[in-house]
Parts: sequence; C-alpha cells; structure tokens
Amino acid sequence: MGAHVSYLGKNDLQLGKKESVQDTAVVLGSMFDGIAFRGFEQKTVEELAQYSNVPVWNGLTNEWHPTQMLADFLTIKEHFGTYEGKTVTFIGDGRNNVAHSLLVTSAILGVNVHIVSPKSLQPDEEVQKMALSISKTSGSEVVVTDNIQEGIYSSDVIYTDVWCSMGEEDQLEKRFELLKDYQVNQHLINLTGKNNTLFLHCLPAIHDLNTEMGQLCFEKFGVTCMEVTDDVFKSDYSKVFQQAENRMHTIKALLAITCGELF
Ligand code: NVA
Repeated sequence: MGAHVSYLGKNDLQLGKKESVQDTAVVLGSMFDGIAFRGFEQKTVEELAQYSNVPVWNGLTNEWHPTQMLADFLTIKEHFGTYEGKTVTFIGDGRNNVAHSLLVTSAILGVNVHIVSPKSLQPDEEVQKMALSISKTSGSEVVVTDNIQEGIYSSDVIYTDVWCSMGEEDQLEKRFELLKDYQVNQHLINLTGKNNTLFLHCLPAIHDLNTEMGQLCFEKFGVTCMEVTDDVFKSDYSKVFQQAENRMHTIKALLAITCGELF
C-alpha cells in the first residue's frame, strides 16, 4: 500500500518503565502516521490512542482482540453470504480476549452469540453487561452457559481458541482439567444439529503434536490435541486459513480507511 513500517519490539520501548506511555505516545505520534499496538495491557493501547494524536490500532491485548473480529466476520460472510440471523458460538476459555471481542462484536452486529464455558471461565460481568445492553438495540440473542448441549445446539459457527492465552501458559494443568470436556471434536460439531457448520479459530491452535506446546500436552496429559481435534481443524468446514488470510485483507482496509485519505 506504499506505507513504510518501523517495528519496535519489547526491548525497544519503555512503556512505563523509564518513560511514561503518555510521553512515548507523544514521541511516536510526532514521527509516525499511525501506531499498531500488539501487547498486553489494554490501558497501554488506550493511552497511546489518547496522547499520540494519530490513529492507533489494537492488534491484541490481554482484554480485547478487535481487529481479529474484522477477519472473522468477513469469513462468516464469505461462507454464508451474510451474518444476519446466524448464531456464533465460542466454546472454551470464555473470558479471554477473543471471546470477549466476539461477544461484544456479535451483539453490535445483531448476530446471535453463545459463550460456552465452565462457570469460572465465563466472560467478565462487565463485558456481559456491555453485550446485553447493546443487544437490546441490535436484537441479537446473547447466551452464556456452561451447558454444552444447550450452548452448541443450533450454532452456525463454532469458534474456539487456545486454553491458555498469552501470559497464562503456567495455568496448563488447571485449564486442561476445566476445559477438557469443552474440546471441539466431531461429536461436538454434530450437536449443532446443522449441516453447514463453519469452524473458526484465531490461531495458533494446538491440534497435533507438531509444536512444543503440543508435545508438552502429550507428555503431561497423554493427548494429541487440546482445544480442537486435528480432524475438525483440517475438515472441509474449517475455514481457519481463509480466516487467517482475511486478517491481511481487513487490516489493509482498516489502514486505508484510517490513514488513506479515501474520503
Ligand atoms: N487468546 C489468544 C489469542 C492469540 C491470537 C492469546 O491471547 O494468546
């Protein structure tokens, strides 16, 4: 698109250590036309946005993953032709960044949304309240449940994510115990009662033994996959790689809209 990019990794930035985020925001804003932040604290990206005076794109934080949603809903639209009247179900760690964003984005778009998770991993109260209040206007149905059959039935889209999000890798044993019944496998897909189900995952996924994490899970629990089985991941109804490619197309659109002087 003709833009120039500088990458600042975690060792290139202070982000509050010796320079405040506010000061960094002002400096970066004076040098760049936009800032993409992919890190941990939501507070950081918000402060960058508040003080930099240039567009700031949230590429992922502990709390939210909004740009992922652009790719996800594009993929849903490509598959079904529309997302109107569809039911999107997230199963797994329902309080992670992707689940939170899916809950609120579905509510905004008027798409029905189910979050299926054990009680201790259900979305934050505040996020649930936000989605419910938005759904009153958009008409989307919001369900949060630990009941797998009830949550999965009638879903058009089954979505899952890793059981340990960034920074939570030390929770592996606990998460496996809590979530092993919430794995996406063929039996779970059949519970939708639909024959045109779409499977989505934001990636990376632990679906085989070809990763260090996959090997570790095999050693610890004797399993060959975690949140999704390899057969579902590779099935015809899995559009995870189309979804990954759509990250690029949608980010390009976002850059064009916010920096491209299109209008
Ligand atoms: N929930 C995942 C998303 C990765 C794109 C994580 O935070 O690690």
